[in-house]
Amino acid sequence: MKPIRKLCSLGSHRVLEPAGVLPQVARKLDATPVAHANEILCDVEALNIDSASFRQIVEASDGDVARVAAHVLALVADRGKHHNPVTGSGGMFVGRVRAVGAGLTGHAGLKAGDRIASLVSLTLTPLRIDAIDRIDMATGRIWIRGTAVLFETGLYAALPDDLPDDVALAVLDVAGAPAQVRRLVLPGQTVAVVGADGKSGLLACAQARERAGPAGRVVGIGPDRATAGARLLVDAGYVDTFVEADARDVFAILAAIPDALPELADVTISCVNVPGTELSSILLTKDRGTIYFFSMSTSFTAAALGAEGVGKDVTMMVGNGYAKGHAATALQTLRDNPPLRRYFIERFAATAPAATPVS
Ligand SMILES: NC(=O)c1ccc[n+]([C@@H]2O[C@H](COP(=O)([O-])OP(=O)(O)OC[C@H]3O[C@@H](n4cnc5c(N)ncnc54)[C@H](OP(=O)(O)O)[C@@H]3O)[C@@H](O)[C@H]2O)c1
Repeated sequence: MKPIRKLCSLGSHRVLEPAGVLPQVARKLDATPVAHANEILCDVEALNIDSASFRQIVEASDGDVARVAAHVLALVADRGKHHNPVTGSGGMFVGRVRAVGAGLTGHAGLKAGDRIASLVSLTLTPLRIDAIDRIDMATGRIWIRGTAVLFETGLYAALPDDLPDDVALAVLDVAGAPAQVRRLVLPGQTVAVVGADGKSGLLACAQARERAGPAGRVVGIGPDRATAGARLLVDAGYVDTFVEADARDVFAILAAIPDALPELADVTISCVNVPGTELSSILLTKDRGTIYFFSMSTSFTAAALGAEGVGKDVTMMVGNGYAKGHAATALQTLRDNPPLRRYFIERFAATAPAATPVS
């Protein structure tokens, strides 16, 4: 092993190329499985690949599980991290602490053997994959043998005792969405959630319902009103209306607005996993309203120029996945909403055994 450069709390000592950048921007990281003094080395059990990234990889592999596995192995071997060059996004991991660096012992009580979920993106996490065992093509969960490194500044959460691990991982992956909704939405407001029947969309709708209250209005938008998630939103009352529309189709959105959102939304949350929906979120939002682009498929250029082009004076927020206390807020959203909790358990805990083995 090469001598290590001066240790950096932000992880720059793990950057192989190019020089002078932090790990998220780096093209390649050193994923050597040792815990330097300011690091936490983990044995990884599973990766939760970011939805936009997983969808892109599945499409590029024609839905073939062996090709998805080969794609992920090659990507991580090349970059020393799971940083999809097409979508720019990553995901998170769940694993067990193998070693805590000498300078971090006593770090929030963390010790070897503890099971944790990372709350920083895989796009900046040194990752080594020795083997891929199973892939759940429905959820983007990949069970691996390998290691990951968390830096001194890296966020993580202990896995809760009252939820299956797979469920906790699904919720923690998108924890920023319900946490930001809790901050942004005020009682009586109108909220639109685009991509409402996915993980982040469901949590965002439940949180918006609670915050907007009985005087508020929550509208979900998604391509299919017959999905289990869309039916849950309506049946449990998390939305007042579910609009069946493809958010890439602005004319479909414009046609739906008079009935669903006659006064437009005070707050719009974009939770889609496809590109090309920015203008729909903009059109759904009233002047001086706020759009939170949680989606990793968001184009800054399309959003900025799109709003200007249609003369919309809206505040647009980049979807920072982190908000203080976001993990606790997201898990609590599930605990406070038994129908949502049942849905997540059915969808994410029950599918795990059916995941496709990878030889
Ligand atoms: N900001 C962050 O830190 C952060 C963290 C994690 C994830 N993300 C991103 O957040 C987004 C959502 O993640 P997720 O895990 O919640 O994804 P998900 O569970 O896969 O949900 C995606 C949702 O988008 C909907 N959708 C797809 N195409 C659509 C269209 N044309 N029009 C309207 N809705 C459409 C899907 O509907 P169907 O299921 O019916 O197709 C689904 O409801 C992704 O882009 C992901 O990469 C961001």
